[in-house]
Amino acid sequence: MEEMPRLGIMDSGAGGLGVLKECLRLAHGVRFYYFADDAHAPYGSKGERDIAIDVRSGLEVLQRCGVRAAALACNTATAVCVEEMRRRFPFPVIGTEPAVRPAARAGCKHVLVLVTPRTRDTARFRALLARERGPAFTVFAPPALASAVEAYAAGGPFPTLSDHLPEGSFDGVVLGCTHYTLVGEAIAAFYSAPVFDGNLGTAQRLIAAAGRESCPRSGISDHRKGALTTSEFSTCDCESFTKNEVIFLNSSKSNKNLCYEQTFFKRLMPKNVVIGKMDEKFF
Ligand code: DGL
Repeated sequence: MEEMPRLGIMDSGAGGLGVLKECLRLAHGVRFYYFADDAHAPYGSKGERDIAIDVRSGLEVLQRCGVRAAALACNTATAVCVEEMRRRFPFPVIGTEPAVRPAARAGCKHVLVLVTPRTRDTARFRALLARERGPAFTVFAPPALASAVEAYAAGGPFPTLSDHLPEGSFDGVVLGCTHYTLVGEAIAAFYSAPVFDGNLGTAQRLIAAAGRESCPRSGISDHRKGALTTSEFSTCDCESFTKNEVIFLNSSKSNKNLCYEQTFFKRLMPKNVVIGKMDEKFF
């Protein structure tokens, strides 16, 4: 029997689960390795050199898993070191970037861009914003929101958004950290504004990089209606295709991968997936 093609997704923690969900909607018959670098999280408050070392170790894990391509489902890692990782690894490394262009294209005029402190301070992020001429951007980097979402994904309370987010009136909000997409509906409600994320684009590029055909899409994610790619229920009729498989890995000795499995099933409701187990020890 032909071996399932393997693809990797990595983040500092749960943030990349939204990208994984999009991948599962697009692909069939693929084995995904989801690597959460929870031992070194949060990335958003670390130095660039440390992040690059951690991301490299994470990609080495995925390389040992035999992936054809890997996505950095992390805006921070992408902003800091995606180019370096592309030079280092023999497979395509896909990045995730704040969806400022989709917000501009949707006609938003006053856009709040939420990113981690580290992303905010990178040259890559500054260049991304400078390329968009249309909207006025307000950049805000909540120091502890990613950690609060991570704790929520591990079974803790839902984050109190008013403790983390600025007040203001915006006609669009860019979720420039994949963790924020996991509470994106609540952020959309907080500002009564549509939210934009890069999850779908990252998933599409990962599947394409692996030379996989996509499952036919049966739903449209309309950000202007506040619908999030990460929370929308998929009606894609993937039952007729070979199921995907997901294997969760994490760098700490905790059982967080079990939390992700539970979070994943509870919140993201994938239909076409089997959760696999790793026998090998990577750490
Ligand atoms: N999820 C990551 C991002 O997209 C980073 C969160 C963190 O570890 O600070 O930026």
